[in-house]
Amino acid sequence: MTDYLAEAAVLFEYTQALRRDFHMHPELGFQEIRTAEIVARELNALGLNVQTGVAGTGVVALLEGGKPGPVVLARADMDALPITEETGAPYASQTPGVMHACGHDGHTAILLTVAKLLHAHRAELAGTVKLVFQPAEEGLGGAARMVEAGVLENPRPDVTLALHLWNDQPLGWIGVARGAAMAGAEIFKVKVRGKGGHGAAPHQTHDPILAASQIVNALQTIVSRNIAPLQSAVVSVCTIHGGEAFNIIPQQVELSGTIRTFEPEVREKILERFEIITYGLAETFGCTAEVELTRLTPAVINDAKTAARVEAVARRLFPEASIDASHNVTMGSEDMAFMMEQVPGCFFFVGSANKEKNLDAAHHHPCFDFDEQALPRAAALMAAAIADLLKA
Ligand code: NI
Repeated sequence: MTDYLAEAAVLFEYTQALRRDFHMHPELGFQEIRTAEIVARELNALGLNVQTGVAGTGVVALLEGGKPGPVVLARADMDALPITEETGAPYASQTPGVMHACGHDGHTAILLTVAKLLHAHRAELAGTVKLVFQPAEEGLGGAARMVEAGVLENPRPDVTLALHLWNDQPLGWIGVARGAAMAGAEIFKVKVRGKGGHGAAPHQTHDPILAASQIVNALQTIVSRNIAPLQSAVVSVCTIHGGEAFNIIPQQVELSGTIRTFEPEVREKILERFEIITYGLAETFGCTAEVELTRLTPAVINDAKTAARVEAVARRLFPEASIDASHNVTMGSEDMAFMMEQVPGCFFFVGSANKEKNLDAAHHHPCFDFDEQALPRAAALMAAAIADLLKA
């Protein structure tokens, strides 16, 4: 049997060089021009059928196995974040205000390594590997745009795979949830309109600040009083803006925030309560409310059969690893959900933190960096999982 871990270890310098290059030259969502050029160059060097400019800056390549069989889609995200890096690493971002603070530089380098690993063993594969390099995962809708651009057609994948390096867990940890892996996310925006006036004459006003405060409080009863205690959900009000001066009651207050859920019925319940509470309390205080709810991503729900296969591959590859097959890895969201909603798959996590080396800052933090030993582990697991799914 192919030892993907040993082969990925041999390619470590290749993976690391790519990762550090992407890290030094980060690009925001839909602006991954340089990154996509390097991705296409590496895939073309393997002689793959490469398509560029998919959904803007996306790249898709097909790797044909030696025998016919199913199609496995493997996806990496390429975008960076609008953060100024503070790691002080020799390979730190050279673009002020832009940083790979989520590990997507690693994901892109890992999937290129997977392409190399599987290309060397293509004769043994029964089926096709569709390698998808996606733009704009960080809230800009890259995955949905790729689905619109037809990434799930010609050929249509039978199964989808994606991974995330995970700094909440140490190197050596692998997470393969059997069901829900990441939450679905909504964005809400609320405008509470009242009647402004003098701060010393509140009786002549309908105070939107008072109404908004009651709404913020009451929204916190949704999770605590309407959702079953054993189910998970989040309702967070993250911005509140209103007023200009200490003696003027304003006309309007604006709130925004996010809702996170796993189960569709929990989501429905929260959205229903959200509107009842917001409209009802606004009215109670003589104000009106406008609610705008936007679905950012569905939940990432792993297909149980696919997750069991990935977990079995992980146990074989890493007998020493702590493999976590519990549900609900994080209330964070992932737009891979748009592909997995249509084609069953598995989204797994590879622990990447190393406290001793000071590589354990959280995702999206200006000091975020991970232990690069996670790169060959992740590449080997992805390659071995794909090979397992394409076993003749
Ligand atoms: Ni990410």
